Amino acid sequence: MTVKEAKKLVKQRLSEERFYHTKCVARAAKKLAPQFGADVEKAVLAAWLHDILKEDPKPDLLKRVQASAIIFGYKVEESPQLWHAFAGGDYVEQELGVDPEIASAVRWHTTGKPDMTPLEKTVFLADYISDDRHFTGVEEIREISYRSAEKGLRRAMKQTIDHLREKGLTVNENTIEALEYLETHDSQENQDGEDK
Ligand SMILES: [Fe+2]
Ligand SMILES: [Fe+2]
Repeated sequence: MTVKEAKKLVKQRLSEERFYHTKCVARAAKKLAPQFGADVEKAVLAAWLHDILKEDPKPDLLKRVQASAIIFGYKVEESPQLWHAFAGGDYVEQELGVDPEIASAVRWHTTGKPDMTPLEKTVFLADYISDDRHFTGVEEIREISYRSAEKGLRRAMKQTIDHLREKGLTVNENTIEALEYLETHDSQENQDGEDK
């Protein structure tokens, strides 16, 4: 599947607002991919596809997620907002035949997971800092990310967890493990100045 084909497909499937978001994520992914050492073309394609099922009916998403829950260890019942990502990963791999590496970046774009690939990191962070995002603190994380993507990723992961906890929502264990992994495995250079 080419970027052009992906664009056409998501245009049909998504609302104007979600399409605009997707376009912003693709733009961010293009900038972040080289920093993470990810393939730019794959990152842009993954970004175009990342929310492809976002507006599908929840029961359809759940059905698709349940089919692969055991393989990937999803905790499906607790967080319907995650279904579009897990289901989207399966969809793009099985129905669109995209590279499993790209599908995985779609699958983990909302929760993250431990030991993420450069492509997975790119799409996760691009989705967090895309230009259409306006939540408190996003500008700072955006600025950090374009200077040091690894630092930005850790900050984004931390803020995701804090935000969910503040709202009393369940934090997916993959996100907690993702942050723990980043904190344990990142180079000292990337950790410096993190908590100032
Ligand atoms: Fe999403
Ligand atoms: Fe998104």
